[in-house]
Amino acid sequence: MSVPEYFVLGGDRMPRIGFGTWQASDEVLEKAVAAALDAGYRHFDTARAYENEAALGRALNRWIGNDPAKRKELFIVTKIPPGGNRPDLVEECFNGSLKDLGLDYIDLYLIHVPFAFEYVPGDLHPTNHDGSMKVDLTTDLVAVWKTVLKLKESGKVRHVGVSNMNEEQILRLSAIEKPACLQIEVHALCQQSSMLAAAKRLDIPVVAYSPLGSKALADNLAAKTGREYPSLLDLPVVKKIAAAHSRTPAQILLRQLLQRGVAAIPKSTDPTRIKQNISVWDFELNENEMAELAALDRGENGRICDFSFFVGVEKHPEFPFKK
Ligand SMILES: NC(=O)c1ccc[n+]([C@@H]2O[C@H](COP(=O)([O-])OP(=O)(O)OC[C@H]3O[C@@H](n4cnc5c(N)ncnc54)[C@H](OP(=O)(O)O)[C@@H]3O)[C@@H](O)[C@H]2O)c1
Repeated sequence: MSVPEYFVLGGDRMPRIGFGTWQASDEVLEKAVAAALDAGYRHFDTARAYENEAALGRALNRWIGNDPAKRKELFIVTKIPPGGNRPDLVEECFNGSLKDLGLDYIDLYLIHVPFAFEYVPGDLHPTNHDGSMKVDLTTDLVAVWKTVLKLKESGKVRHVGVSNMNEEQILRLSAIEKPACLQIEVHALCQQSSMLAAAKRLDIPVVAYSPLGSKALADNLAAKTGREYPSLLDLPVVKKIAAAHSRTPAQILLRQLLQRGVAAIPKSTDPTRIKQNISVWDFELNENEMAELAALDRGENGRICDFSFFVGVEKHPEFPFKK
């Protein structure tokens, strides 16, 4: 089964293996991005909330130099922070991202999450004294989406889309204009078959985040909650298929996503793993292997990034996930 290396968004090519940037220090990230560019990555994913846009921008701009053709090779994605989910704040947040990235335009701008925090200048994650988030319960998602759509008129963003939304929210926004892209958690333990089917019906390309199981987040949540998060890379079925193909478990997990028709944005700071994660085009999983991987799905129980690290956020009327 040959799979295309790009999604085409309104005439632009978005590589189906991109580079994730969450949870790396600035110095480490700059080196990792340079290694990723060398390895052939051209799609980079960040967010205002990751507080790393400036570091990513420095690494990208070193590579672009004075050559506008090199900028055109790249596909750069960033996202509105949860505190910016208000029509009067969207443009300010967008301009902040553009400035920190040091770019003239962004390829894809996403609403990061459908819920919202109160806007507190200089504090992207405002908390109450008890550690819970200062949640803004008044979010008008349709109004935010209309404002995001308007950004396209400036020419400073080529496409706009959404992340972490459920099917009802996507349908509600699609009634105004269909998002160009949907970024959600998808991996072997959380396969999102019904969301992928809905996105297919709507013809919205899907990008899988945490495709390798987001070890740092899983470890962090396990320490806080005592819940067990199995390591995707150590699952016996994944290891068995990896051995059969002389590939790494990560390559098997990424290839499964590609053959399921989605894009993926693995994050690594290790040059060898960075190269391995994009070398997934020259082998194929057979029907039996795809079936064995499909059987690993734990549905909603397999979700890692459930935002429980933002205490109290599940009370927001637009909180997207239901157990
Ligand atoms: N929209 C959203 O709300 C949202 C949420 C979460 C993530 N994201 C995006 O998706 C990206 C990817 O997700 P993620 O960072 O959560 O997790 P991930 O990519 O699933 O996993 C990253 C972890 O896997 C390790 N790793 C990477 N390649 C490996 C390999 N070949 N073999 C073994 N281990 C490997 C990394 O360690 P090393 O660095 O040591 O290799 C890191 O610990 C993020 O960086 C971010 O850009 C978006």
